[in-house]
Amino acid sequence: MKLQHVLVMGASGGIGLAMTKKIAAEPELKTLILCAAHASSSKLLQELKRECDEKNIHCLIIDVDITNENSLAALVTCITPSVTALDLVFNAAGLLHHDALLPEKTITQISANAMQQIFAVNAFGPILLAKALWPWLRTKQTTVFASLSARVGSIEDNRLGGWYSYRAAKSAQNQFLKTMAIELARINPAGIVLALHPGTTDTMLSRPYQAGVAAEKLFTPDFVAERLLELILHAKPEDTGSFIAWDGNRIPW
Ligand SMILES: NC(=O)c1ccc[n+]([C@@H]2O[C@H](COP(=O)([O-])OP(=O)(O)OC[C@H]3O[C@@H](n4cnc5c(N)ncnc54)[C@H](OP(=O)(O)O)[C@@H]3O)[C@@H](O)[C@H]2O)c1
Repeated sequence: MKLQHVLVMGASGGIGLAMTKKIAAEPELKTLILCAAHASSSKLLQELKRECDEKNIHCLIIDVDITNENSLAALVTCITPSVTALDLVFNAAGLLHHDALLPEKTITQISANAMQQIFAVNAFGPILLAKALWPWLRTKQTTVFASLSARVGSIEDNRLGGWYSYRAAKSAQNQFLKTMAIELARINPAGIVLALHPGTTDTMLSRPYQAGVAAEKLFTPDFVAERLLELILHAKPEDTGSFIAWDGNRIPW
């Protein structure tokens, strides 16, 4: 699979940025659209854009709130008319915690407001992004929509409990992606939709929760990006609608 026109959401984050760097090195790349809530304030993305400009890759950096339909509608107006299909949409936007929000250890910590915030980014965001980009995915050519889920979103694999909202939001994302995969297969049999688990990766998102993780199980963003890009480049239409870990193994729903 050749990557010519690519959009990355969450491009400023730990995994998103590492993935963006790998994609920028793809030999056939022509268009790279880099989005995140605060993408324009990322010095690293600006640096990457300068490198792309030197290689004549059309690189756009756009602030997009994945939870906001108006923001997504504004994003699609920035896509050059000559780009009629996207070879890859990689969604690395996600939320586990912020200053005023921590994953729940017990049911008594559940709050409607926190659940809404976590669901907005991790569950509704990916499918709203896919809806906005649908015209660029439904064309009859190989296209991959890959979104970062998490193993904790697997209902079958839930042995520890806790993290109610994040787990449930990732489970909901998985269901949205599976449903979309079925619809896309009917109109674009070369379309591939993947829910990916990156493994525990050393980023801002996981940093407060790394204490119990064995050193060999805590991956660098660069390692994860290499594995995920490899998976994406070799994905086949029969893989669509699956939940796959960084090592290529399927994860039960
Ligand atoms: N790290 C891990 O161990 C791990 C494990 C399993 C799954 N994952 C999943 O992998 C994905 C990437 O995680 P990460 O570790 O790279 O996290 P990260 O470093 O915290 O990056 C998160 C990214 O999401 C963006 N984002 C957050 N809210 C957004 C919104 N409303 N609209 C648009 N962009 C938004 C951020 O943009 P701004 O910086 O501009 O706000 C940032 O680019 C997440 O979905 C996460 O759940 C991570």
